[in-house]
Amino acid sequence: MRLVVATGNPGKVRELSSLLDLEGVELVGLTSFPDMPAVDETGETYLDNARLKARAAAAHTGLPALADDSGLEVDALAGLPGVRSARFAEDNGVGKGDADNTALLLSRLTETPDAERSARFRCTIVVATPDGRELVGEGTCEGSIAQRGHGEGGFGYDPVFYYPPEDATFAELPSARKQQVSHRAAACADIRDTLESFLAANG
Ligand code: IMP
Repeated sequence: MRLVVATGNPGKVRELSSLLDLEGVELVGLTSFPDMPAVDETGETYLDNARLKARAAAAHTGLPALADDSGLEVDALAGLPGVRSARFAEDNGVGKGDADNTALLLSRLTETPDAERSARFRCTIVVATPDGRELVGEGTCEGSIAQRGHGEGGFGYDPVFYYPPEDATFAELPSARKQQVSHRAAACADIRDTLESFLAANG
């Protein structure tokens, strides 16, 4: 059986494939469906955006489809950048992309002491079927925002996301270790068993 993953990133397909570890289910990314139109992530929550992407992929392909949406929530910033994490700098007119997002985040926290820099990554996964049924999974990973970036690995906010159990930022962790403890891993663990039964019953 095939499960479409609503992403054009083959790395994400491999990561989700390994995290979900579903026997007899092949995860296929949108590179296999080049005609699929892009979906605007206009939702106000991770759930809205994951649902928009999963429903569009299921409707286009006629197959069950999985989409995820995630972001970083900083308590001292009342949960920002949140659902707008990818576009934090752009929304604020100070550039675009990972380096500008991270620089803006650090600049908003210059007066915030270590004890008040708690943050978490949050991920929501939606699996939608062409006939309108859906499953939802959620996961978080707790940490805090470092005073400056450390490490070269990962992407996005990884250099400034300090993960206490490893005494390291996500950019300093080996990617295999980050993959085990991330918000995406937690969301996959949350949905995995239900998804397995769901696909067995609906495939
Ligand atoms: P997406 O929904 O997985 O595309 O994530 C949206 C944005 O959240 C990304 O562009 C990053 O800025 C941020 N983000 C999500 N997951 C991670 C992560 O594991 N590390 C660093 N940044 C992340």
